[in-house]
Amino acid sequence: MNRAAEQSQENPLREGLTNRAVPQPCSIVIFGATGDLTHRKLLPALYNLAADGELPPAVTVIGFARRPKTDDEFRKEMEQSVKEFSRQAVRDEIWSNFAQSLFYHQSDFADESGFKTLADRLEKVDKERGTRGNRLFYFAVGPEEFEPILKHLKAAGLNKAPEGSWARVIVEKPFGRDLDSARELNRVISNSFSEEQTYRIDHFLGKETAQNILVLRFANAIFEPLWNTRYIDHVQITAAETLGVEGRGGYYETAGALRDMVQNHLLQLLCLVGMEAPSDLRADSIRDEKVKLVRCLRRMSPGEVAVDVVRGQYAEGAINGKPAAPYRKEERIAPDSKIETFVALRLNIDNWRWWDVPIYMRVGKRLPKSATEISVHFKKAPMVLFNKETNEANVLVIRIQPDEGISLRMQAKIPGSSFRIEPVKMDFHYGTTFGKASPEAYERLLLDAMSGDATLFARRDEVEEAWAFIDPIEKAWSAKKDAPELYFYPAGTWGPEQADELLARDGRAWRRL
Ligand code: BG6
Repeated sequence: MNRAAEQSQENPLREGLTNRAVPQPCSIVIFGATGDLTHRKLLPALYNLAADGELPPAVTVIGFARRPKTDDEFRKEMEQSVKEFSRQAVRDEIWSNFAQSLFYHQSDFADESGFKTLADRLEKVDKERGTRGNRLFYFAVGPEEFEPILKHLKAAGLNKAPEGSWARVIVEKPFGRDLDSARELNRVISNSFSEEQTYRIDHFLGKETAQNILVLRFANAIFEPLWNTRYIDHVQITAAETLGVEGRGGYYETAGALRDMVQNHLLQLLCLVGMEAPSDLRADSIRDEKVKLVRCLRRMSPGEVAVDVVRGQYAEGAINGKPAAPYRKEERIAPDSKIETFVALRLNIDNWRWWDVPIYMRVGKRLPKSATEISVHFKKAPMVLFNKETNEANVLVIRIQPDEGISLRMQAKIPGSSFRIEPVKMDFHYGTTFGKASPEAYERLLLDAMSGDATLFARRDEVEEAWAFIDPIEKAWSAKKDAPELYFYPAGTWGPEQADELLARDGRAWRRL
């Protein structure tokens, strides 16, 4: 037995990300089974898991929604969606097998009797398909539906699993729209399910390269000694999308880029980059360290918000040569909307490691390119020996998507008789190194929920602390309701020029993606 296996036997708690627990047979009940998320993400993820042999054969999916539909109709609809959105091509023999595990349950979320019949149905599924009383309830619905569903699940006794089995709930974002509503949502959930049963999804945590950040930092000896204010000049995190709001105007008008992407996805990435090493890989050890980092984020005063946060909204423009309409002309968007589709901010982490290291974040829709990356910019070498003009800092880039990988920019001598220097790149690409496409985030996260591993899900305190950082920014904006600063940028550009000034002011520039 190797040392790692011995250690894991000595201490079974040293598992988490290293030895993933095995997914268990269960029924997955999806509330909102006819919605976009189910079509685009959940069913394709489950199909891919089945196709890769990762899904226990007994796993049974019950779509729960209002519209009347037979099991067969549900299966046909799902087949269309999976064909459209699946990562791998759909193979008939795998699909027909998988389709046998799909069922439809028609009920209103407010109708208590629909949950009683659901309980009967689940018992039957346990007997017929061997799901062993394990239940995973997936809330693919808006937060306004949470309360009735939770109440009825509890009334039907479905929040508790039979002896020796489990009941868990997966909750999708938006997880509140400010600290108060997030607390309220947590309170409502905790009336029916304990924290251990609650899995708050942040799909960025399921992305392969996001998971690799901890490995990069803590399984390599060379980075960690440099990972602090002494050697790091600043950090940039960019999440750029070419897409606009894509028919989600109703939701987006109540959110905006700060709530939609920064409060959750970008702060989660920052936690992975900035946290201290956990004492082991248990879910709570990792989450304890993440929450400590969010607590250290310096809360901004209204004056700082005005200087350190830039809001933008896309105007008419073009993406890859195709004309793109302005945000205000998109479906279900107010013609005078002041919602931001772009935000750039400069933030500070008040702890020893990150003192005086600015973190710049930007996220936007209708930018020239879809790409998410984190770049760690090191301090420059003392250029006493070489030409100062060519002095470029080392930059470590973690590409979250696309072309997942990690690269390190460093200086090299140009071959020849003179000592001319040029930056070169050491580059690692997941695709070419491991020779296969990474699974979709939802595949990993669904498997983890079936295995009882909450490492890649957000804990209650993490979510609340993140809102405690975001709230002062939103409040500073809404205090200026008639004239919150909003800069327009043509679709297909990198946001308003004020975002560039945010860095230029500090003598820095955004990395070109
Ligand atoms: C979602 C946001 O959480 O993440 C969307 O609501 C955004 O607005 C999406 O487009 C981006 O995720 P991904 O995985 O496509 O980068």
